[in-house]
Amino acid sequence: MKHLLGIEGLEGDDIEHLLELTDTFVEVSRRRLPKVPALQGRTVTWLFYEDSTRTRLSFEQAAKRLSADTLSFSVSASSVNKGESLRDTVETIEAMGVDAIVVRHRSAGVPHQITRWVSGSVINAGDGWHEHPTQALLDCYTIREHLGGVDGLRIAVVGDVKHSRVARSDAWAFTKLGAEVTLVAPPTLLPPSLHGWPVAVSHDIDAVLPEVDVVYLLRMQRERMTEALVPSLREYTARYGLTRSRVDLLGDKAIVMHPGPMNRGVEIAADVADLPRSVVTDQVRNGVAVRMAVLFELLGSGGER
Ligand code: CP
Repeated sequence: MKHLLGIEGLEGDDIEHLLELTDTFVEVSRRRLPKVPALQGRTVTWLFYEDSTRTRLSFEQAAKRLSADTLSFSVSASSVNKGESLRDTVETIEAMGVDAIVVRHRSAGVPHQITRWVSGSVINAGDGWHEHPTQALLDCYTIREHLGGVDGLRIAVVGDVKHSRVARSDAWAFTKLGAEVTLVAPPTLLPPSLHGWPVAVSHDIDAVLPEVDVVYLLRMQRERMTEALVPSLREYTARYGLTRSRVDLLGDKAIVMHPGPMNRGVEIAADVADLPRSVVTDQVRNGVAVRMAVLFELLGSGGER
């Protein structure tokens, strides 16, 4: 594997391999000195054209724990503001000698485009509404940690699927590992076509919750909505939010997940987010080890280019 651009193009075995590699880095992360020399002499940089807390920081933490050098780059304080093109920006960074570029961009397909301009590895940290592969990997890892595996589980992905790259990557990852996925959303928050998606669809969260092992809530992405897709947030919460009374419909062992950042009080009630069955902080913690596994897979076993 040279790049990680999405989950759709991976096999279930590729995902399993990355999850098994993650076990190694979870163990490293628990050490008193959580650092290994695996990527000494390698350089990783990030090119984030959209805001991020979790993905950006956990990639930085992952690279440092692998002893890679990191080149910090902030789009908002760069020559992008003077009109420098994406291609010129990427080629400038590449000329300084980087081995991997972690990229987030508002447009789908940008990470793939960058692979044509650079010789190093490219990792998609979220491209438009398309994919967010490392989020899906850390979600699979977290489910595996809490429920022992993904195969055979029933998973509901609830909310703003239309604008969600997380929903796409998770639907592919969960089903490639053998889970059954149901998307739960009003018709206006589903993509115009679900052709090719390996999922079922429901508009009735109360009917779905008793049947699932995992309820995965998506953030209402108000910044991406160009029209009113729900009558009001209050109405959305009443019909689709995971409220305190709805969470009691879940089975005893079912877990609650969210990629963050959460809109507490909209898609998830504030007190539900803090219940023991909510594994949101475990998702964040596992994100570091998963990203160590991805960086190691792309850079650690390929030798010097
Ligand atoms: N889940 C996620 O991608 O969060 P950030 O936008 O904070 O990176």
